[in-house]
Amino acid sequence: MRGIILAGGSGTRLRPLTSVHSKQLLPVYDKPMIYYPLSVLMQAGITEVLVISAPEHLDSYRALLGDGERLGVSLSYTVQQKPAGIAEALVLGGEFADGEGICLILGDNIFYGHRLPDMLRAEAARLDGCTLFGYPVSDPERYGVATVDEAGTIVTLEEKPTAPRSNLAVTGLYMYDGDAVRRAAELTPSDRGELEITDLNLTYVREDRARLVNLGRGSAWFDTGTHDSLLEAAMFVQVLEKRQGIRISCLEEVAYRMGYIDREQLALLGKELSSSSGYGQYVMELASA
Ligand code: DAU
Repeated sequence: MRGIILAGGSGTRLRPLTSVHSKQLLPVYDKPMIYYPLSVLMQAGITEVLVISAPEHLDSYRALLGDGERLGVSLSYTVQQKPAGIAEALVLGGEFADGEGICLILGDNIFYGHRLPDMLRAEAARLDGCTLFGYPVSDPERYGVATVDEAGTIVTLEEKPTAPRSNLAVTGLYMYDGDAVRRAAELTPSDRGELEITDLNLTYVREDRARLVNLGRGSAWFDTGTHDSLLEAAMFVQVLEKRQGIRISCLEEVAYRMGYIDREQLALLGKELSSSSGYGQYVMELASA
């Protein structure tokens, strides 16, 4: 399975933070936002990842992450000319996907949960059609909302309904079989001119081939779409990291623990980060533990 991170959009709700910067490069406590979704993919065992962003920002992602070799993964980059919908990521990533299954993740979604990597690997192995990941929220009308049967098959799926049928929000993490690229290319733009991810997912729902896995209360999910939710996500990361003395979504650590790089490379990455950064120190300590 290959991974796609969609990191474009106009970031209007976060201006002026995003007047110059790409939203998904903004800091979430101690690291750029995109580290979080990238670490999710890497922990799921996905080592080939395409990053999609706006023309004016793509070089910043390249400068930050490079070709991925330092982390033992392969990263490539594609431009989305304008925010023409989340489902367009699959069209733009069609060649990259090369007929394989795809795990698409939104670059502004932050997930945390110690069972998540195992769960994602298990879901990738049993994928048939598409698998979405749900999270119970108090304000479902802000999201895609699903209802499911006892087996977890999605029965209804609506984008930002005024009267939600459940409290299960569809998060920005999606797994698709190799047919999704064709399906996405056949979508017609919605009234707001976008290829809607919910329309793509509905093609699978209609065939009873859309599954929803409830991430449940044992995990955390943040979208960082507003100033408040951005700060809340940062505070969550800070509290967790300070209390436990760890760093979460530390790409260097994930690469090492997943066996993508060896201890020597980890030490080198730590050195590059510099011992004057707490994050750098953490990586160096891991390498010498
Ligand atoms: O966060 C989960 C929600 O994401 C889901 O529950 C919804 O079903 C889904 O439609 C989406 O809703 P949003 O209102 O958050 O979508 P938004 O248009 O804000 O886009 C989400 C992210 O994707 C945002 O960081 C910008 C980026 N994006 C969006 C579009 C439409 C792109 O990079 N390109 C795009 O064309």
